[in-house]
Amino acid sequence: MPFRPSSRLQALPSHFFARIVRTAREMAAAGHDVINLGQGNPDLPTPPHIVERLVEAARDPRTHGYSPFDGLPELKEAIATWYRRRFGVEVDPHREVAILIGAKVGLQEISLCLLEPGDAALVPDPGYPDYWSGIALAGAQLHPLPLRPENSFVPDFAEVPPTVAEKVRLVFLNSPANPTGAVYPPEAVREAIAFAQRYGAALAFDAAYLDLVYDGREPMSFLQFPGAKEVGVEFHTLSKSFNMAGWRIAFCAGNPDLIAQLNLLQDHLHCSQFPAIQLAAAAALLGPYEPVHALREEYRRRRDAFVAACRRIGWEVTPPAGSFFVWCPVPAGMTAADFADRVLREAHTVVAPGTAFGTHGEGYVRVSLTAPVERLEEAAARIGRLGLFRALP
Ligand SMILES: Cc1ncc(COP(=O)(O)O)c(C=O)c1O
Repeated sequence: MPFRPSSRLQALPSHFFARIVRTAREMAAAGHDVINLGQGNPDLPTPPHIVERLVEAARDPRTHGYSPFDGLPELKEAIATWYRRRFGVEVDPHREVAILIGAKVGLQEISLCLLEPGDAALVPDPGYPDYWSGIALAGAQLHPLPLRPENSFVPDFAEVPPTVAEKVRLVFLNSPANPTGAVYPPEAVREAIAFAQRYGAALAFDAAYLDLVYDGREPMSFLQFPGAKEVGVEFHTLSKSFNMAGWRIAFCAGNPDLIAQLNLLQDHLHCSQFPAIQLAAAAALLGPYEPVHALREEYRRRRDAFVAACRRIGWEVTPPAGSFFVWCPVPAGMTAADFADRVLREAHTVVAPGTAFGTHGEGYVRVSLTAPVERLEEAAARIGRLGLFRALP
């Protein structure tokens, strides 16, 4: 018997990355050697001390029951210590920290907490598509904040028409950015805070790639900025810094009002994450940081190798300042979807068309550096053989 989905569900588009995963699997099942650079799924293992802590905690029957609804105090305290040690930022572990079952979930919950039909939310375009879904589920209006190459893919609030600005209740920001790899300069964060103060909007600062910055840049927390905690929250995840994407553990910190709202919603939706995972996450945050530095160095090596391989085939791509994505222009005369499709069918390489991240992503594809150097070089060589770029002499 067919069932009519709710209007809420009908507002959700089919998930682009769910499609990519399916296509890559189908091509591999058909016997092709597929290089999947389409997703942001880290390929390296979680550092062993974190896995050991999970094993030890999982053997302790005290972790086998429900977690407190809002997460374990041990993890919240570890998060507060992490903020103090790394950024000199004070957060109250009990009022200013929420534990999330992945940042993806939290970034949708914040829209459900704040937005009414008729409200507007600003999202970076191109940007992480999961911001859209929470806004759609809340029945609110999404307004793109265009990220332009001439502005180094950094948002410019002067582009928001005053009639839209008046309705904005929530602004998503993301640095280091998915998909462009841009890292916001401090002035951009200060401008965002000023915008939020002026219009009474909340800022949801997505710092998923916080640790992955290159060329002498230092990781930065949104909460280091004066006024940040008055207007917003920062989302961070263990998925990328510690290769823990499958573990589903992340957190949100900052404005106590927003944290209380998230926790109230979560009290009704979840019972937090498996306590042993929370204890392992605390061990990750309080443990040695060398594995994170080594991971950053590995992505830098991959980035440089991939960019060099692209230049060898005549593909002029700019190395990203942060994240593990390379934002590559498609050849003149092709759309992002045409190019991604051709690369998939003829080079058996999955890249994400820029339009999967918003209309301003047209003209680009996103390549994830989530494969070893040899595979990244092989992908560039295969793309080179399509004859779409003129190789340099
Ligand atoms: C910008 C950005 N934010 C958030 C997330 C989600 O992270 P998590 O694994 O914690 O759900 C991702 C994952 O790819 C991301 O790219």
